[in-house]
Amino acid sequence: MCGIVGLTGEQLKVTDLIEALERLEYRGYDSAGVAYLKDSKLNITKSRGKVEVLKNHLGENLDQTIQTGIAHTRWATHGEPNDVNAHPHFDCSCKISVVHNGIIENYRALKIRLQELGHKFLSQTDTEVIPHLIEEYYNGDLLEAVRKAVLKLEGSYAIAVVHVDHPDIIVGARKGSPLVAGMSDSVKAIASDVTPLLKFTKEVIFLQDGELIELSANALKIVGFDGTTHKCQPVTVNWSYEDAQKSGFKHFMLKEIFEEPSCIVSVLTGRIKNDRIVLEELEPFEKMLIDSKTIKVVACGTSYHAALVFKYLLENTTPITVDVDVSSEFRYKRPHLKPDSIVVAVSQSGETADTLESVRLAKRCGAKIVAVTNVVGSTLTRESDCVLYLNAGPEIGVAATKSYVAQLVMLYLLAFKIGQLVNDFVPQSSQLIDKLMRIPEIFENSLKSSDKIRELATKYKEYKHFMYIGRGYGYPTALEGALKLKEISYIHATGYPAGELKHGPIAMLGPEFPVFAIAPNDSLFSKMKSNIIECRSRNAKILALTNHDNQEVTELADDIVFVNNSEEELYPLLMTPIIQLFAYFVADELGLDPDKPRNLAKSVTVE
Ligand code: M6R
Repeated sequence: MCGIVGLTGEQLKVTDLIEALERLEYRGYDSAGVAYLKDSKLNITKSRGKVEVLKNHLGENLDQTIQTGIAHTRWATHGEPNDVNAHPHFDCSCKISVVHNGIIENYRALKIRLQELGHKFLSQTDTEVIPHLIEEYYNGDLLEAVRKAVLKLEGSYAIAVVHVDHPDIIVGARKGSPLVAGMSDSVKAIASDVTPLLKFTKEVIFLQDGELIELSANALKIVGFDGTTHKCQPVTVNWSYEDAQKSGFKHFMLKEIFEEPSCIVSVLTGRIKNDRIVLEELEPFEKMLIDSKTIKVVACGTSYHAALVFKYLLENTTPITVDVDVSSEFRYKRPHLKPDSIVVAVSQSGETADTLESVRLAKRCGAKIVAVTNVVGSTLTRESDCVLYLNAGPEIGVAATKSYVAQLVMLYLLAFKIGQLVNDFVPQSSQLIDKLMRIPEIFENSLKSSDKIRELATKYKEYKHFMYIGRGYGYPTALEGALKLKEISYIHATGYPAGELKHGPIAMLGPEFPVFAIAPNDSLFSKMKSNIIECRSRNAKILALTNHDNQEVTELADDIVFVNNSEEELYPLLMTPIIQLFAYFVADELGLDPDKPRNLAKSVTVE
């Protein structure tokens, strides 16, 4: 998974390409490169490492004015991260250069065929076949050559291509990987997402699968892979360029955690009227929901944990069974879906390959898809029957934080809505809805405890292992707490339903293996208390997360963080900023960069 960008227009410098690339670094950062056209020459600089390393390589060239350029930040799939495998790649004549995000599945066969035709390859990448294929087909018309080349490619890709004979043209193509174009009077741009485009424009075009685009300084043209002309359909995005900056926070992750109260407001806006949930998008499917016995949910990673909260909530409040599957498992199962089945797909990015494939499998069975996503125009939104947008704004940190909170809020709304449709669960829901509306304020309070959480992080940062435990609504929170800690601090952390401890995991506990207990004073607290006591008697340190009124925990835990008292259904939401801040501060205290954890990328667009 990678980030690609292309710019053409007036007054552009190499540094504009670099700045655009920095906005995409969250998509992968093991190598980076640029190719730009200046005085009818193609200049390529690329190197292993982050964009910062590339910048050092470019040195004074950063100030060069250019006509057109493409750039790439890589998350390696084929070939180790090194200077040669870094993009852009180029053809034998060194006239054509390509950046690519995705995987070319048939590259071996293509490479052999091209080698037989005399093409010389330098890298181990799948991407390098693309410039050579274009070279084969080039006959003076770059768009047509790229079109013929993509017809030979199998797999998923978004590409941007330049050619020295066309100094103000970029050609892009998309199949299975995101590609967005933007245009202002002076600059035309293309990128893997809107973030780098915001500096130039808010008018963007989300390319569809099977489309090619030709951008020149003054024009923009879209054609299908079959060569027919397609309509350009610009949309206005409301994200400001500043939204994608750190706004004074040390890291995007911290900034994004502090944005959670306003995210909750965004999700709730217009969604609650007189204690009724307003989700107009769902109207065509209300009858199906009322008749549903089971709802299937597919998601990965953090989104899967949000889906688990939805399961607890809906099963506790309606007769509906919620069947949650990790997408990478579901896509290879016998789906047991029918044309009257509803499948909820939860994905922040809307580009997660396994979730998209699960959706496609479900659609083949005739099921209707309800997407819960943050990214307007993402592939998931186009392949779903109904989309519930999170409106959480861009999330740059690789670790999902504000998008998780937004997912939770949207899934609460969805569960309450279904509850209202199915059994008109108004009395209970009106109390919950009332509390939900006050959550932003409560979050603001929780975030005030960030100094205390930093102190705890300092105290616990040297441990090599962590056990997160919870019961009922606390269980998904335990899973998410463990995921957050391990993904950014590289400390081994595991999440368990507390009742499972005795079935194996308790064997690991001891003075070197602390327990992070999600222990609000809910209906399962007495059980949780016994589990905490069991952990203590193995000499494990206990860090407990509970609510203010639950003073009983004081006798059980070594350290405690309190959140506001609430209904038990809402604790997964209230406790989230605490587990996120703890993971963030541990990583920061260890001198790690929480925004760019090793081996991870923001959206997993390959299997
Ligand atoms: O974009 P998605 O929500 O589909 O992404 C799914 C996971 O890759 C994602 O939630 C991942 O687990 C988080 N970045 C972890 O913080």
